[in-house]
Amino acid sequence: MAKSTVKYVCANCGAVSLKYAGKCFECQSWGTLQEIRTDPAPQKAGKTGKVGTPPVVTSLRETPEPGRKARIQTGLQELDRVLGGGLMPSSVIMVGGEPGIGKSTLMLQITPGIHEKKILYVCGEESPSQVKDRAARLGIPGGNLWLVTETILEGILDAIAAERPDIVIIDSIQTIFTAEYQSSAGTITQIRECAAGLTRAAKQNGFILFIIGHITKAGSLAGPKTLEHMVDTVLQFEGEGHQRYRMIRSIKNRFGPTNEIGVFRMEEQGLQEVRNPSEFFIADRSADIPGNSVHAAMEGSRPLLVEVQALVSKSGFSMPQRISSGFDIKRLNIILAVLEKRLQLPTWGQDVFIRVAGGLKLLEPAADLAIAVAIASGIKNTPCSPSAVCAGEIGLSGELRAVSHAAQRAREAAHLGFRTIILPEANTRDTSSWATKLPVTIKGCRTVQEALDLLN
Ligand code: TYD
Ligand code: MG
Repeated sequence: MAKSTVKYVCANCGAVSLKYAGKCFECQSWGTLQEIRTDPAPQKAGKTGKVGTPPVVTSLRETPEPGRKARIQTGLQELDRVLGGGLMPSSVIMVGGEPGIGKSTLMLQITPGIHEKKILYVCGEESPSQVKDRAARLGIPGGNLWLVTETILEGILDAIAAERPDIVIIDSIQTIFTAEYQSSAGTITQIRECAAGLTRAAKQNGFILFIIGHITKAGSLAGPKTLEHMVDTVLQFEGEGHQRYRMIRSIKNRFGPTNEIGVFRMEEQGLQEVRNPSEFFIADRSADIPGNSVHAAMEGSRPLLVEVQALVSKSGFSMPQRISSGFDIKRLNIILAVLEKRLQLPTWGQDVFIRVAGGLKLLEPAADLAIAVAIASGIKNTPCSPSAVCAGEIGLSGELRAVSHAAQRAREAAHLGFRTIILPEANTRDTSSWATKLPVTIKGCRTVQEALDLLN
């Protein structure tokens, strides 16, 4: 009989290695490799065709069309948009985020919107009375909500078979374990095996499965990261715990666009939807202070104006500090090098701190220009023009490269009362189809220097 094989999986990034090592070869984290055992696959039809029957192969033309499955609306529009228009039947959705960010709260809040569906909530972390207490605080009637305190996978599957729910919520996958393996709950083996068992049950029995997973401080889905390929949708909570804003981003979605974000505010009555997030991300802005700029961002399919702050101060260290919250530190270093070398702005010897308003993470390269403008404004100690916004990717020669969705960015700027939008020149060559009658002046710049001349 074939033997089971041993592999090592990194709890931080999910990389698989055949040998044990103290350090992950992929993400360089120390002590994160965990042993997993894989049993050999059951014998299938081999070349000789002795076991089983050969699989059915069909041409694309003869393949039946997928049935149009009606999506289920959760009643939270921000969440439905991130999901691509609501919940798909039989889908598996992983919800990741730091402890205390609002995952359990969100799960409770979707229940009133789908009151005709039976929901089974697996409480691995809190007691049913704690869940009841929270539901009462959130004003959730919960007539369709059934609770079970079970952390053994086999028990959960039995409860699902007996209750036949439409939706199952696992809170959280790190607390569930299967009796088949010796390792404790929360290890990679347990997380993978339990998620695989639950996913199989969801696909076979046709219920929607939510898997909640905690993520590490570093931002990766520890353990649950290895589940990403298994599930249909991965939603990740962003935002800083001590701030009120919570963003939910789809980082994988088989049934909709990725990088779509839904914006919420955590209040006494739970998560409240923020319908016009731009207003919030520029609400507390101090336009007359040097070092601030406004970026016209695209988050998924939605334009969003967001304030970027840079603090530049003389460094007391031989290696100046570069600290960034909400913007990639490597890109920040490139922008600083471009400002130093191409624009002769003295960035060396200066500490640079970057902060994006509301805890938002700016992932698209189009955010480069707003970061450069904020830093330049900080260095020169002159505020940027308060009625202007910008967007543009910066090349290594200091040139500005075209961005996507220029028209939507300009419309959002106009909608919020800004008078000028600075874009790369390539985006402004033919604006006849979208810029006429827009109450905002569109200015095209070939280089960062041209943009700074207009803004600072
Ligand atoms: P929770 O949903 O328990 O987080 P997670 O499941 O991701 O660990 O959220 C807990 C936090 O949210 C806690 O700090 C209290 C806060 N909170 C509110 O501010 N208002 C509310 O109505 C609720 C239910 C929670
Ligand atoms: Mg929780």
